[in-house]
Amino acid sequence: SSSRQICVFPSPAELALSLSQLLVHESQGTCSFRLALSGGSLVQLLSRELPKTAGLNTAGWKVAFCDERLVPFSDPESTYGEYKRQLVPLGLLSESQFVTIDPTLPVEEAAVDYTKKLQELFPGDDLPVFDLVILGIGPDGHTASLFPGHPLLQVTDKVVAPISDSPKPPPQRVTLTLPVINAAKMVVFVATGEGKATILKRILQGEESDPLPAARVYPVHGKLLWFLDEPAARELTCP
Ligand code: 6PG
Repeated sequence: SSSRQICVFPSPAELALSLSQLLVHESQGTCSFRLALSGGSLVQLLSRELPKTAGLNTAGWKVAFCDERLVPFSDPESTYGEYKRQLVPLGLLSESQFVTIDPTLPVEEAAVDYTKKLQELFPGDDLPVFDLVILGIGPDGHTASLFPGHPLLQVTDKVVAPISDSPKPPPQRVTLTLPVINAAKMVVFVATGEGKATILKRILQGEESDPLPAARVYPVHGKLLWFLDEPAARELTCP
C-alpha cells in the first residue's frame, strides 16, 4: 500500500532544511542512491540548504531528472545546467553523478537516448525504481513535463517520453512518464508561495473526475510526501 503525508513549513528555508535532512536520511548507509530531480525553483531551494546539511554524503548519489528541456546546458533554462552551476562548485556533487540528456538530438531521439541512460542506471529493470523522486507542481497542476489534458498522461509503455508543445516554455522537453514516477520508493512534491495555494486545494482536497497530472502521482508501493510552505498551504482545510 502507499501513504500520503502533508508537511507544512513556515518558510521555504525551513522546508528546504527538512528536505535536505530527508535526503540525508534516505541516502545514508547505502552505496547507491538514485534520485530524480525537477527543475524550476527546486534548484535554488536545494542549492541554498544542501551545503549546510550536516551528515550529507552524496558519494553514492546518481542524479537523473524528472524532465529536462531541449536547450544547451549553457542555457539558464537547462535544468542540468542550473544544477551543475549551483551545486558542483560547492563540491556537493560532481558532473559524473548526473544522468543528462543529449540536448543536440531531436526531441524524439533525446527521449530514446535518455531511456537507454536510465536502463544503464537501473540494469535489468524494465521499469526504473528510483529511491526518491522530487517533483514540483505548476499552477495548472502539471508536474515534470506532464501537462493537463496532454496525451502523455496516457503513456504507459515508455519510461521517458518527448514533448514538443509544452505550454510552459521552452516547448521541447523529455519527461519521465507516470508509471516510472509511481514506481518510486518515495515521491516528494515541493511547493512554495501563495501562487500554488489554489491548485494545491484542488489537488489535495478536491474531487476531480479527470485528475490533473499531479493528482495522478500515487506511488504503487512507495511513500508520497507533500512539502509545502504556509503560503502554499493556506487554502487547505485541516482535517
Ligand atoms: C520544470 C519542472 C516543472 C516544475 C514546475 C514547478 O523543469 O519546469 O520540472 O515541472 O517543477 O513547473 O516549477 P516552480 O517550482 O519553479 O514553480
